[in-house]
Amino acid sequence: MHQVFKTNDAFTITKKSNLFASFFTGIFNRTTAPDTSVASTMNTLLIKHPCRLLLLSVSCWILLTGCPKKDKHKIPVKNTPQTTHALPLDSLEAFSSVLTPSPWLKDFWSIPIPFQGNPPYHWTKEEKDISAEGCKSCHPHQFADWSRSMHAHSTKNGIIHQLSRDMHLPAHISKNCNQCHNPLVEQSIKTTNGKVNPAFNQTLYKEGVTCIGCHVRKRTYFGPAPDSSNTNQNKHNGFIIKNEFSSSAFCSPCHDLQPGNKKVNGKLLLETGEEWRRTRLSAAGMTCQKCHMPDKKHLFKGIRDSATVKEALSIQLVLKQRGERKAPFKGHPPLEGKDSIIAELAVTNLGAAHRVPTYINSQIRVILEQLDSSGNIIQSSVKTGIIGRKMSLDLKFEVFDTRLLPGEKFYLGYKLKRHPSTESLRGRIEVWPDQHNYELYKTFLNNPESKQSPSYQLIKKALNQAEISRYVLWEKKMRI
Ligand code: HEC
Ligand code: HEC
Ligand code: HEC
Ligand code: HEC
Ligand code: HEC
Repeated sequence: MHQVFKTNDAFTITKKSNLFASFFTGIFNRTTAPDTSVASTMNTLLIKHPCRLLLLSVSCWILLTGCPKKDKHKIPVKNTPQTTHALPLDSLEAFSSVLTPSPWLKDFWSIPIPFQGNPPYHWTKEEKDISAEGCKSCHPHQFADWSRSMHAHSTKNGIIHQLSRDMHLPAHISKNCNQCHNPLVEQSIKTTNGKVNPAFNQTLYKEGVTCIGCHVRKRTYFGPAPDSSNTNQNKHNGFIIKNEFSSSAFCSPCHDLQPGNKKVNGKLLLETGEEWRRTRLSAAGMTCQKCHMPDKKHLFKGIRDSATVKEALSIQLVLKQRGERKAPFKGHPPLEGKDSIIAELAVTNLGAAHRVPTYINSQIRVILEQLDSSGNIIQSSVKTGIIGRKMSLDLKFEVFDTRLLPGEKFYLGYKLKRHPSTESLRGRIEVWPDQHNYELYKTFLNNPESKQSPSYQLIKKALNQAEISRYVLWEKKMRI
């Protein structure tokens, strides 16, 4: 499986698929150093690490087991001795403090978001409507983009099951999910003391993280500084300009669990803003909005969008030995190692200002495999590595964590015998955005008692959606 090592150049923390690979990638790093422009970009992106001054020579690579600092990178977990565990954020330097909310922002995000109240009587029907549908008539572009985003889907299928299930649980637990998935008072079926909520609004409930959650408090509208000073303040009593809309602190209340929540291996389940603060990009003013809302667009593209993920990753496939097709002469055993294919597939996070992926749900699968002349995969030749944070289904322990901060690299080393019918070697990268939930849904459906559950059909649908959300990000075939 995976072990953690630190590279000797560029101060990166790298993930190796095995000792063998670590040896070869050590050499690879030195002999095929990236060109200086890439290297300098990488350096600006690189996270600073307490161990960075410890420069190791190639030979030390092999001796890493004896290197005293190594344990810093390896947090052993019971029953899972051979896995990697990305470092807790506390051990990394923070470059920005702008996640701290201003008093206004703190108040703006006090959850649940209070009842909006009745609109002024002279407003038009459209202005009175606080659903996203209502905003659509005057803000069609924002509506069209938001509808395609995950924010508009935060109460669909699998989630809706979990939320509705939670509604039968003590109110403080369902409140926990609602604060990010359904933060308005109008979106809770019950009040915090378990009574029917008179303000409940079915349309808003289905819209999840909807427009007014981010823009409207008690019928007062808030937004970023507009692009032109000549703005129309005639509709919905105008709006109040707040610069906080352009800061990462605006997104953090939902994309970071607050300190004090349970940590596993020193890490919260959701800490994207904190990850961002540990990257140099945060100090350079690269806010969440700059990457996820370019031109103020409301698409919030992420792991489900191949173009976005491609922007984040640099991918390199290197073939080091083709593997001899036959033994050197008849009846003689092959020369030691010569019949092996030796290759390496490396994936670096160069474009996302947080871990890739940032959440436990997603996996990026790195695959090397041999193909025959008709393009069929030779099953015994497939080797897979996973970039992600795999948690047990009950979220109690971490199985592995190979996520990549900016500048970090994941290596899949390959050394296998060349199959007699092999014609090419293929590198492939797949994205499985919903893998944690997929396994959760499967476990639920496989339990015979679940057939009676009113949520059975919803979960079946959610499983199907999780499966079709998978896609191939990148592929490269080398004839050998
Ligand atoms: C009847 C038309 C109308 C409706 C309905 C409407 N708006 Fe507006 N909204 C406007 C106009 C006009 C402006 C001013 C835009 C400008 O001139 O730049 C505006 C401005 C805004 C701004 C500030 C833009 C900025 O540059 O900061 C926000 C945020 C906003 N609206 C959100 C909403 C939301 C959310 C809804 C639905 C709950 C909504 N609006 C419904 C017409 C409307
Ligand atoms: C009110 C809470 C809330 C706020 C504020 C919020 N988000 Fe989200 N965001 C969510 C939730 C919940 C999801 C997951 C929805 C789902 O998949 O069911 C999400 C999903 C996303 C995704 C897509 C993830 C994927 O899997 O592709 C992106 C990107 C994102 N948010 C970016 C942002 C940015 C940038 C901001 C700040 C401008 C922001 N969010 C503010 C709650 C919020
Ligand atoms: C602190 C805010 C927060 C809380 C509290 C929270 N979530 Fe989430 N949840 C998110 C965000 C943000 C995402 C998207 C994360 C990403 O993709 O990086 C998400 C994603 C999810 C997903 C995967 C979404 C999908 O469509 O694939 C599920 C399922 C989920 N949450 C369920 C729950 C449940 C159930 C609870 C309550 C027990 C809960 N969440 C509590 C913020 C939160
Ligand atoms: C997750 C929070 C979030 C949600 C949901 C959201 N917005 Fe925004 N919106 C923002 C942020 C943040 C900005 C400012 C982006 C920036 O400054 O780069 C913004 C900017 C705007 C603006 C002004 C910028 C422009 O394009 O003129 C309008 C108008 C607006 N939003 C309307 C809407 C409407 C309508 C919806 C629902 C269809 C919506 N927003 C949903 C966070 C949100
Ligand atoms: C420099 C650009 C950049 C910045 C800044 C940035 N992101 Fe991302 N983000 C990306 C890219 C690229 C991806 C796609 C790769 C991936 O999924 O990690 C992504 C993915 C995501 C996802 C998808 C879920 C996942 O597991 O990856 C969420 C949610 C998200 N970002 C939230 C945020 C939040 C919140 C901030 C601010 C604290 C932020 N991002 C800042 C580039 C950026």
